[in-house]
Amino acid sequence: MRVELKGLAHRFPGTDVLFENLDYTIEPGVTVAVCGPSGCGKSTLLLILAGWEKPYRGTVVRDGVKRIGWVFQNPYGVAERTALDHVAFPLLAKGMRRREAEPEALRAMDLFDLSYAADRRFSDLSGGEAQRLMLARAVCSRPDMLLVDEPTAQLGIPEPHIP
Ligand SMILES: Nc1ncnc2c1ncn2[C@@H]1O[C@H](COP(=O)(O)OP(=O)(O)OP(=O)(O)O)[C@@H](O)[C@H]1O
Ligand SMILES: [Mg+2]
Repeated sequence: MRVELKGLAHRFPGTDVLFENLDYTIEPGVTVAVCGPSGCGKSTLLLILAGWEKPYRGTVVRDGVKRIGWVFQNPYGVAERTALDHVAFPLLAKGMRRREAEPEALRAMDLFDLSYAADRRFSDLSGGEAQRLMLARAVCSRPDMLLVDEPTAQLGIPEPHIP
């Protein structure tokens, strides 16, 4: 399993070139962080990696990557459903029984220190809890490649001091 980027470049109609000459191979088991200022093309690069956006130039070869997981920049959930339900759902959709899916979902929530909120409704979660929930859900469904957009945006990291 690997993802190979060759000569990747992108621009949208109406934007400058966001990035170009991007050659990179993502090996199995590796975490790659993409950093850059707002609007530089980080989310766009993830869309291209997932195959949801066609690059302006260059290619992405996804070798052996069948299931792609996404954690979006903003957490989306179903207001009335419990946190646990959100994590268990992909397992149930894969055919697992609820009595196996829920303990596994709880273990994934535990990885993100979230098991205390298992029975809370999604609408009652804080922004950071909702984001950790989305991470737990993504990890729990064991995708071949996990794309996480701004994974700490809501996690209460102190704002830079602006005088
Ligand atoms: N479908 C589109 N059509 C035209 N322009 C777009 C489109 N999608 C994104 N853009 C523009 O492309 C640039 C890169 O957007 P992108 O969402 O990739 O930035 P980002 O690095 O993820 O920013 P942020 O840190 O704010 O999330 C932005 O200037 C954005 O306005
Ligand atoms: Mg973005």
